[in-house]
This record gives sequence, structure tokens and C-alpha cells, in this order.
Amino acid sequence: MAEVKELQASNGQHNLENYEQTYENFDWDEAKKAFSWNETGKVNIAYEAIDRHAENPDKKDQVALHYVAPDRDEKLTFEDLRKKSNQFANVLKKQGIEKGDRVFMFMPRSPEFYASFLGVLKTGAIAGPLFEAFMEQAVHDRLEDSEAVMLITTPELLERVPQDELPDLKKVVLVGDSKDIEDGYIDYYKEMESASEEFDIEWVDLEDGMLIHYTSGSTGKPKGVYHVHNAMIQHYQTGKWVLDLKEDDVYWCTADPGWVTGTSYGIFAPWLNGVTNVIVGGRFTPDAWYDALDQYNVTVWYSAPTAFRKLMSAGADAAKKHDLSSVRHILSVGEPLNPEVIHWGLEAFDLRIHDTWWMTETGAQLICNYPTMEIRPGSMGKPIPGVVASIVDDEGNELPPNRMGNLAIKEGWPSMMRAIWKRPEKFESYFINGWYVSGDSAYRDEDGYFWFQGRLDDVINTSGERVGPFEVESKLIEHEAVSEAGVIGKPDPERGEIIKAFISLNEGYEESDELLEEIRQFVKTGLAAHAAPREISVTNSIPKTRSGKIMRRLLKARELGLPEGDTSTLEE
Ligand code: WT7
Repeated sequence: MAEVKELQASNGQHNLENYEQTYENFDWDEAKKAFSWNETGKVNIAYEAIDRHAENPDKKDQVALHYVAPDRDEKLTFEDLRKKSNQFANVLKKQGIEKGDRVFMFMPRSPEFYASFLGVLKTGAIAGPLFEAFMEQAVHDRLEDSEAVMLITTPELLERVPQDELPDLKKVVLVGDSKDIEDGYIDYYKEMESASEEFDIEWVDLEDGMLIHYTSGSTGKPKGVYHVHNAMIQHYQTGKWVLDLKEDDVYWCTADPGWVTGTSYGIFAPWLNGVTNVIVGGRFTPDAWYDALDQYNVTVWYSAPTAFRKLMSAGADAAKKHDLSSVRHILSVGEPLNPEVIHWGLEAFDLRIHDTWWMTETGAQLICNYPTMEIRPGSMGKPIPGVVASIVDDEGNELPPNRMGNLAIKEGWPSMMRAIWKRPEKFESYFINGWYVSGDSAYRDEDGYFWFQGRLDDVINTSGERVGPFEVESKLIEHEAVSEAGVIGKPDPERGEIIKAFISLNEGYEESDELLEEIRQFVKTGLAAHAAPREISVTNSIPKTRSGKIMRRLLKARELGLPEGDTSTLEE
């Protein structure tokens, strides 16, 4: 019974002392009081995250960013980051960047990344961080759709940027050795050297754009999810309630800023709350990660089930070599948090792992487990105060407890996306009857806990990364041997799902291990490593509807040996 007790509320002082009471009484106007724009009217999320602390004599010399990688260990205070982001904002201004311009970033995590990102926001431009593992096609689609005018990247990654095919892309900043930088490119370090450390921040409106994250749906190219400065209210507030951040915390979020967790919770939530943010570069190994927790005295740690599962399979000895006693609060996001992992957390850390649910589109956490609440393993928790969540049917009518349906959120929370870039019809399609419909299926129990059941569409979640089958299928059929392709997610104990592709071959091609490996590599080098199918099956034909849509549902049912369901629209 010890375990049951351990899943009860954790002891100690927490920012959200009484969930139920706060839920009853909270309104977002409360949270706005934390911001100076409440009085001055001068809004910019980068100012609130960095400069506000740099102006405070007691905080300016506190470490804001502690960057560690195999070849680098660097600390920047709030004042350092204020100056560096000002310098970069000046570089951008000199190049003619204006409010509303899209400035994309394609580079690994580094102090330069964070300074540039904040600099972009200070000019009022819209930042677009891209995951460094993207290959040419993925980079092209995102820069083309956003009509980005500037890209910040490295000399090494430049070959994956098809500049000739991107007419809007006027300027490229390169972060690297001057000797690797050809004429016509902007040399980051050289420009920074001569740039002033003071900058007149572009004050914007709360509803002005600040960020675009591309994410995948089940159809079409990736969608540009558009976020505005107003999101800071929820980044700040969830940082308090859910991450339980206090000013002396050392916080580590393992996500890359190419994904929304790496911006909302890798940049905004910690800095809006004035805490020291540890950023770990380099590759994941269990030892390196335990080492980071130990060496940098991390107190609050936000990661993902896929990482926890890897640590778990590395065994208890890997953990025992390290002193993990600084850690006081652990959170998870991105995919279902297996009860087994929660039990491992109790053993390895003597702490509960707190699941949180949200999406790229929602901009910030919505349904969570809180320190002061009992955890029910397998449940995502309860909505944050200020948010109404429910289970609805396809017409947007609420369903009673314990009935499975669409997980939906009442429209109007602060960090909600404001648009899908250039695709108003896509944006509209998320909303039914005043509800934002997530695409996840779930149920709510009698006590108000939400339980995730699965995706309702064909979106694949592999190791916490969201992959659209359409993108992978499109890439597959670009290969000369492939005539048709259908792509599904197949359950996998470590990765959640793996990508499985069904293909039919063009005349003149024979199935062989070499050919299938070549096709796999083709997707890997054209799109991204995480989008490459781990399994490929060759079939004579791919099931389609009469209107030509690939019936992935049917491919999946056949693969898993499940009932085929309604096949009335299947093409003969
Ligand atoms: C999808 C959103 C927002 C952070 C990272 C993912 C799945 C997210 C959970 C969770 C079960 C989860 C859902 C969701 N997901 N959190 N706690 N339990 N599933 O953002 O790439 O936009 O993906 O990830 O299916 O719809 P994303």
C-alpha cells in the first residue's frame, strides 16, 4: 500500500496550494497583474522574459541560461542575455527586418540560438524555429509556406537549404567560423561584434504575432501554427502552478525549441518566472542525462515518456551512480505516460512524475497533474484553472463521465493559436460549437480526471514526435521505385509508435532488402530521420476510397489483426 500513499499529494509549499478552490475562483485578469504592461501598455514577451529581470538589481546577475554540451559550458546572466539579444536585434534592424516579418532559425541549441531568438522577438518579427534534424524537403516546405525573409543557420546546415527555390528568402545569417562564410552571407559573430548592446524594443500589441511552429496533421503539408505575445500570460501562470517554479529553482526542459515544448517551456515559462534554465546540447545517453541532473543540481525537470523509458531500460545501476537528490519535481509531456514509468520514477527518484497534456496548437499546458493533487497513473490529470475541458461528440455536445469521445477545450484560453498560417479553413475546422476539438479521444472519470485513449485521426506519435503520414507518403512516392504508399503508426513498447509504410512498386522493380533500405534512406535524408519508416511492406495495391483517399485505418486494422470496420467506400 506504500505506493498508493506515494501517489497522494506531495508535501511542502507549492504555488498551487488548493487546486479545487483556485479552479472555482480564478480568472485570467488575475494573472495579468504580474506584467508591467498591465500599467505601461508596452508589450513584448522578450522584455518580460529577460529585460524585466535585468532591470532588477537583485536579479540581473543571476544565471538565466546555463548551456552545457560536450565541448562547451557557458553561463549567461539575465543582463548578459539582455545585451546579447539587443545586439542581435540591432543586427536584424540593420538588415531591414521589420515587425511581422518571418525570421526562421535552423540550428542546434546554443547560446547563440537563444540570443537570436529573443532578438527576433524584440524587433517585433515572428520567429520560426526549425528542428536541426530536418532535411531539405522539410526545410523547404516550412520556409516556403511562411514566406520567411531571413534564415539564421550554420555553415554545416546550409546545404539543406534550397535557396534557389525560395524567392522570399532574401538574407541568411550564418553562425560559424568566418573562414567558412562566403560573400553574400551575414556573418553572425562579425556583426555582433560591432552591434550596440542597447536597443529600442518594438512594443507590440498582445495580439501581434511572435512565433510559428509547424506541425503535422493527417492530410496535407505541415501546418504553420501561429502564436501571439498574449500567450505569455499562460506560459507564466502554468510555470507557477504546474512546473511549480520558485525563483531559486534550477530548471531543465529536455525538448528542442524546434518543437513547441522547447519554446513555451524551454524558453518562456522558466524565464518569465525568473529561474535559471539549464540547456543541454549533444546527444542523449542515460549517463549524460543523469549526469546533467546531478552536476547542475537540477530541481525541476520536464521531459517525455520516451526518454523516461530509455532511462528505465538502462537499469537502476545507471541511476545509482549519480546523486539525484537535488530534483524535487518531475513532469512529462508528448505521449501517454505509462503507469509503469510512474512506478519507475517512484523508485529511481522517490518522486512522482506529473503528466501534462497539451498540443502545438494550444500553446501551453491545459490538462495536468499538480503537486498538491493525488496522481492516478494513466490519467493526464485535470484542467488548469481558467480552462474548461470536456468530452464531446462529433456535434460538439458534452458527454457524461466515463464516455469516450473527443477531448475538447472551451475556446478562448490565453495561449491558443490565433491562426493556421495562410489557411483559414484549416483553422476553422478545429472548432465545433464553441469547442476546440483536439483530435485526441479520451474520457473523464466521475472525479474529473481525464484519461487519454488515442488519436482520432491518422497522426503518428513516434517517440513523442508528431509525424503526418501524408508527408512521409509524398516523399516515398518521389522515389523512382515506388508507385503508391500508405503510412501508419504501429504500436511499439519503447517509441509509443513506429512508422510503418506499405508501398507498391513500379513496373521493373523487384522487392529486395537493398531496395527497401534505399527507400528508407531516401526518406531519412530527404525529410528527417524521425520520419523514416522503420518497417516497409511491399503490397500489390494500397486500399483507397472511391475518391482516392488512402484508407490508412484499413491498413492499420489489417496490420494489427483488428476488425476492418466499415469498408463501404473502398474502391473495388
Ligand atoms: C499530441 C500533440 C505539446 C507538447 C508536445 C506534443 C499527444 C501530448 C500527451 C499526454 C497522451 C499526449 C496527443 C496530442 N500528447 N501530450 N500527456 N498524454 N498524449 O505536441 O506535437 O502538437 O502533439 O501529442 O496526441 O494531441 P504536439
